[in-house]
Amino acid sequence: MRGVPDIGIIGKAVVCDVGVRWYIGCLPIHEVDHLPVENVALLMHHTWEFVMIDFNIPPYVGTEMEYVREAAAVNHKICGDGPFSRRCHEWLEQRFGVKKAMLTTSGTAALEMAAILCDLKEGDEVILPSFTFSSTATAFQMVGARLVFVDIRPDTMNIDEQKIEDAITSRTRVIAPVHYAGVSCEMDTILALARKYDLFVVEDAAQGVMSTYHGRPLGGLGTFGCYSFHETKNYSMGEGGAILVNDEAFIERAEIIREKGTNRQRFFRGQVDKYTWVDRGGSYLQSDLNAAYLLAQLEQADHINDNRLTTWNFYWDAFQDLAQDGLVQLPVVPEGCVHNAHMFYLKCADLAERTDLIAHLKERGVGAVFHYIPLHSSPAGLMFGRFHGEDEFTTRESERLVRLPLYYGMTAEDRATVAQAVHEFYQARS
Ligand SMILES: Cc1ncc(COP(=O)(O)O)c(C=O)c1O
Repeated sequence: MRGVPDIGIIGKAVVCDVGVRWYIGCLPIHEVDHLPVENVALLMHHTWEFVMIDFNIPPYVGTEMEYVREAAAVNHKICGDGPFSRRCHEWLEQRFGVKKAMLTTSGTAALEMAAILCDLKEGDEVILPSFTFSSTATAFQMVGARLVFVDIRPDTMNIDEQKIEDAITSRTRVIAPVHYAGVSCEMDTILALARKYDLFVVEDAAQGVMSTYHGRPLGGLGTFGCYSFHETKNYSMGEGGAILVNDEAFIERAEIIREKGTNRQRFFRGQVDKYTWVDRGGSYLQSDLNAAYLLAQLEQADHINDNRLTTWNFYWDAFQDLAQDGLVQLPVVPEGCVHNAHMFYLKCADLAERTDLIAHLKERGVGAVFHYIPLHSSPAGLMFGRFHGEDEFTTRESERLVRLPLYYGMTAEDRATVAQAVHEFYQARS
């Protein structure tokens, strides 16, 4: 611990060291602002603890608010598909060389659109890893598909491409690879299987913006690619996402589904003289306010990426000794994959050690977290899916994984503190 700094209360506001985030009990300070002074004082007296290094701080480059102001006060356009949305679409299409990119309200919404576009029928099957966020599954479950979970590779934590073919049945319609930590799945094998069995590939590239596989952008390889711009992601608009439509044949239908099932985009292009309800759909357009916020970050995408990579590479170097001593395992980035430093994780010996490490880091003021309880053993996963084959790695590896703080703008001092705290933990055990 770095010691206890001065804390005071002015009126109802809690003040403390500038630049350090403080928690009172389990509440971040901004959440206790509204409490009466006496309660805050009591909280501070008895239960305060502090986190000096957040697990995540959403990216903020400084030009966001000017763009948001422009959307509201200059463009007078704050609903979907205004000038800032168009600029984001163009940015994504040009940067990644994809046929069509459209902002959505979330990564989950992008996955839902992809699931509708695959036209699945009740009982059709979708192959996906169990080690993923619930949205990869809910999107397909919502359109009636059965989920077939396939084991992951222990090195990348991605779906094991060698185990997919055995899970394909006459009902299989989709493979949904998830690029965990922004490191690509083995897409050549997956795309070859999709061609062989005539399947859709829906890439869950929520974490993969700016990553590549043999020079091609994640999200741009399958039939559809889904990005997330949630506040935990490398580029953010709070809540948001994008769908990449990589097969021209689906672009017009994607526009319709995104616009509440109407042919409004055809109307805007002057292709029909009025627009009407023509297909399935939802409200998947993102507000231009959010698009404005995001564009500011996309314009600095390389800078953000480099900044995150600096921290990732620091951790990578810092933990070589622990890895060489066999105490932890480090992430693996296969040949041909360029990652975006979305996350840095370590793998401990087992669940018990990971629990102790997270507790130790918390005591040192470091916010570290584990990731994903495998879906196949969750209540909904048991209802809506099945695990194909043996769970050799999914449960075991997920129990060992701990994510360290990594965000745009993380200071050299903070990352050194994290590395030191991890080293202390293992020194105390040796
Ligand atoms: C792998 C994966 N898929 C889907 C999502 C859903 O994205 P969103 O939160 O933007 O809906 C996330 C976000 O956490 C994710 O990590």
